[in-house]
Amino acid sequence: MKNIKGKVITVTSSKGGVGKTIFATNLAGVFDYLKKKVLLIDMDLSCGGISVLLNLEKSKTIYNLYDDILNNRFKDLNDYVYHYSDNIDIIPSCKDPRQGNKIDGKGIEQIISAYKSNYDVIILDTAHVPSVASLVSLDISDTILYIVTDNMQDLKNTASMLTILKDRKKDNIKVILNNSYRNEKNYFSRFDIKSVIKNNIDYILPNSMFIPNINKYLMDGKILVLNNKLSFKNNNDRDLLIKIGMSLIGDDNDEK
Ligand SMILES: Nc1ncnc2c1ncn2[C@@H]1O[C@H](COP(=O)(O)OP(=O)(O)O)[C@@H](O)[C@H]1O
Ligand SMILES: [Mg+2]
Repeated sequence: MKNIKGKVITVTSSKGGVGKTIFATNLAGVFDYLKKKVLLIDMDLSCGGISVLLNLEKSKTIYNLYDDILNNRFKDLNDYVYHYSDNIDIIPSCKDPRQGNKIDGKGIEQIISAYKSNYDVIILDTAHVPSVASLVSLDISDTILYIVTDNMQDLKNTASMLTILKDRKKDNIKVILNNSYRNEKNYFSRFDIKSVIKNNIDYILPNSMFIPNINKYLMDGKILVLNNKLSFKNNNDRDLLIKIGMSLIGDDNDEK
């Protein structure tokens, strides 16, 4: 088995409601399937939705973790993670957005470095707003997964943001065109989208991944890809997610 440790993957976008959180939880599900230990951190510190989405009891949050590290009360990593499944641990976002505002960039870096060696993969699910948490997440990640949709405003904003990110000369951005977050026909072609964002599209989540009764599954707090009864319309979609997960780990091995 390939040996990777603490690869940080940040899921981001220029627009809200484009499927980042659903994709990030599914990606965690894929790594669970691949028997990789994964830590999913909700970096949307103002109104993070993972704990709500997955019906986690919010005992401790990223704010408690930050506060305890700051005040030397931090002892055991496990005290702050929610064990969702054998391989998936989750650190929920703050209970109160005012707490989120208190967490600084250094605190976020300390949190990631404290947990890095205990996991194969750390997934950071960010808010689309350029908050401190989002910017630091982008900065410290090994791979940035940039979710775009065929919305022109989203694409234009993405083009500007990609220009800024590419200035860092890190070459670690993968663009994902999400055609699955709503059941509408795409207006723009793949060619149009590429020319607006001036970037390649690395992966496409097809419209067949749209789940009509998604609210039922969200009510139950299920990670979609882990729920066999649900599956997508066809197994190819599940296989595609697994392929994306594997290539993300493969990238890491190529670099080392
Ligand atoms: N695969 C999907 N099938 C059906 N609806 C989806 C899918 N992915 C996302 N959505 C819809 O989009 C909404 C926003 O998704 P979410 O992941 O919370 O976006 P973001 O994190 O980017 O704000 C979801 O509540 C759901 O209604
Ligand atoms: Mg979200």
